[in-house]
Amino acid sequence: MSAMISTRTVTINAAFLQEIKDVHQLLWETLASLRELSEQPDASNGFLREFARLLNNLRDQLALHFSLEEAYGYFDDPVDVAPHVSQRAETLRGQHQELYVCACELVERVERAYDGRKWADVTLLAGAYREFHRQIVEHEEAESELIQEAYASDLGVGD
Ligand SMILES: [Fe+2]
Repeated sequence: MSAMISTRTVTINAAFLQEIKDVHQLLWETLASLRELSEQPDASNGFLREFARLLNNLRDQLALHFSLEEAYGYFDDPVDVAPHVSQRAETLRGQHQELYVCACELVERVERAYDGRKWADVTLLAGAYREFHRQIVEHEEAESELIQEAYASDLGVGD
């Protein structure tokens, strides 16, 4: 007897997904500012206050960004979708939750660093942010590739 394989297919609406990315300028600005700040960490009040402010913004902007993507950019579709597209779409959509949890952890961490104001905590925090930034960029690039492929193969392209 063959094993039952889940037939749920996830696909993207490439046009909507691209549009969500295009209009979310604030998110890209926050990411760029955090990246810049994380390269020159210091244990001063000013640094930690600004880092905390930007991380709080980032967490909220990501929550909005991911929920828009999930509401309009991804969908579960019973029709034929190339399995390799569907699998990647499902993986990428699944990354939103992990990335959001990471952003929340960074916010908690910056608050603890602010209380302690130890140089070691601040450098670790800056390093953790840079790693998080790398993951976000990787996620965004993978989504952009999927959008391009969807356009190229005419799969999942909205009207
Ligand atoms: Fe995404």
